[in-house]
Amino acid sequence: MKLAPSILSADFSRLRDEIQAVEEAGADWLHVDVMDGHYVPNITIGPVVVEWVRKATRLPLDVHLMITDPDKYAPEFIKAGADWVSIHPETCKDPKASLKKIRQLGAKCSVAVNPDVPLENVEPYFSEIDMVLMMTVFPGFGGQAFIEDVIPKIKSTRRVIDQRKLAVLIEADGGIKAENIGRVVEAGAEVIVSGSGIFKTPDYAETIRKMRKAAEKI
Ligand code: DX5
Ligand code: ZN
Repeated sequence: MKLAPSILSADFSRLRDEIQAVEEAGADWLHVDVMDGHYVPNITIGPVVVEWVRKATRLPLDVHLMITDPDKYAPEFIKAGADWVSIHPETCKDPKASLKKIRQLGAKCSVAVNPDVPLENVEPYFSEIDMVLMMTVFPGFGGQAFIEDVIPKIKSTRRVIDQRKLAVLIEADGGIKAENIGRVVEAGAEVIVSGSGIFKTPDYAETIRKMRKAAEKI
């Protein structure tokens, strides 16, 4: 299991310290939530910030684009240091072309699946992606409650990927904490995003230890 703390819940006035703290606490990746105020009603981080985040850590940067024009901006985020780029296919005119472009620019690509989007809608992209991002909240804000109904969809995704022997990681994102991470990993997710579940706790190392322990019991 890889743990990807979402910096959306970090203290932005001390972003470098926060990044180093989760890195030292044992984070595997950093998740960067990019929102544009159009696709979702919130505005967060742009390429300028990613460029500075890149300088502050060696961890892989997992950039989640919740924006209406990923084709225009994905190249800028990759130039700024994104290693992974997730797009919501409903925001692209031609999602396969968008995914191909991300790979051509040297990043790994992923499709994000909202809680109300059935697996069948995104299965056609499975041969073109490195990861599928299963949203366990509706995109837009950190700190929302985990949507339990997505668990069966994660299980079906696991089955499809294993049956087709695809090298596609399953990432789960939204409302994941030490209390529910076990169920998400058990369902088949292997990259776990957690924002408030880590950054809103007093001791990141202790929280990450707890999360790994809960996942190991599976
Ligand atoms: C939701 C974002 C998530 C979220 C994770 O739109 O994509 O990455 O910030 O934060 P928590 O873990 O607090 O739900
Ligand atoms: Zn995210």
